[in-house]
Amino acid sequence: MKHRVAIFGCGRMGQIYAQAYSTYPDTEIVGISDVNADRLKAVGQRFGVSALFPDIDSLLRETSPDVVAVVCPTKYMKNAVLAAAEFGVKGVSTDKPIAGALADADAMVAACEERGIVYAGGNLQRAMHEVQAAASRVHAGEFGDLEGACVHRFGGEISGGGCQHIAVLRLFTDAEVEEVVAWGTPEEALNGETDEDLIIHGHFQMTSGLSCQVFGTETPRRGVDVWTEDSLISWDWAPPTIYRGFDESGNRLQIDPEYAPYEWNEFSYLTGSIRSFLAAVSGEGEPWITGHDLRQSLEVAIACKQSALLSSAPVKLPLEDRSVSMFPRPYRWLGGDASGKPQSVDDAAGH
Ligand SMILES: NC(=O)c1ccc[n+]([C@@H]2O[C@H](COP(=O)([O-])OP(=O)(O)OC[C@H]3O[C@@H](n4cnc5c(N)ncnc54)[C@H](O)[C@@H]3O)[C@@H](O)[C@H]2O)c1
Repeated sequence: MKHRVAIFGCGRMGQIYAQAYSTYPDTEIVGISDVNADRLKAVGQRFGVSALFPDIDSLLRETSPDVVAVVCPTKYMKNAVLAAAEFGVKGVSTDKPIAGALADADAMVAACEERGIVYAGGNLQRAMHEVQAAASRVHAGEFGDLEGACVHRFGGEISGGGCQHIAVLRLFTDAEVEEVVAWGTPEEALNGETDEDLIIHGHFQMTSGLSCQVFGTETPRRGVDVWTEDSLISWDWAPPTIYRGFDESGNRLQIDPEYAPYEWNEFSYLTGSIRSFLAAVSGEGEPWITGHDLRQSLEVAIACKQSALLSSAPVKLPLEDRSVSMFPRPYRWLGGDASGKPQSVDDAAGH
């Protein structure tokens, strides 16, 4: 039996979801929704979907989907997730970032948790099958005990894009961030309303006891490293590189990670995200990226800004005050139409 999928939000990212969901043999797109009627029609024609809806309520009511992919701008995600949860779907996914206010992220995660609804976290590199494979090997002890970790380039948009780093760090270390000490620049970004251009340097203390340095700018790398006595596992926005042992001069030796092939890899890590999501909806395992993961990423980003604003005072997590927030740049929060980067109908139609 095919999973009945509804897509809410049919912009640039929604169209990638539509492409993926219309490719897999076990999924069927039963309806799509967008507030932009022209784009909605073009995307419907492109993917052969005739059930088009202007809002989440009519999408749910008329199509009774099993799963809903919420790919609208972040501002509107909460309403869609709560509506889908109340309707009683089996699974819902959102893309990143999950929300601006931490309390909203809490409400979205709780609404799904309370009802046993699977909540997946969208197109994040944590769901890349090679990232998952490397993490499983670290967890199985293949490289020995972790001795350290660091995050590179935690800056630019620490909630919008930086949630990638936090999601991979938590996966590799199998731990949560429990304390943050941070320095933030430039001053205007630190005092701004959004995460735009804010660069964070600092230190994360993990619940496992591991210590993690945070470099805000580009070092030779941009992602997350973890290391053991003789190995380094390095995610740098690509399948992780693995080093094991040293040569005669003491340089690390890169090894062939021998990642297994993965079906539908043309959709990159969105496939790992969606396939693990659908497996979870069918009762097998957990999504490789969850709504909880997205919430944790937002929380760490907020804690970093708080610490930086408090002259680098340590900030403990989970944050007690859940009314705090961090908003992403207008494109992510409101979408391209409302922020001066609309996608043309021609483009949406795939021409
Ligand atoms: N994970 C990633 O790699 C990645 C990449 C790009 C975007 N994103 C995220 O995906 C989301 C969408 O980004 P995008 O690039 O598709 O933007 P986009 O502007 O191309 O598309 C957004 C779509 O949502 C529609 N929309 C706006 N308000 C709506 C509402 N209230 N209800 C329903 N639909 C509404 C718009 O009409 C538009 O078609 C954002 O949250 C963004 O941060 C994630």
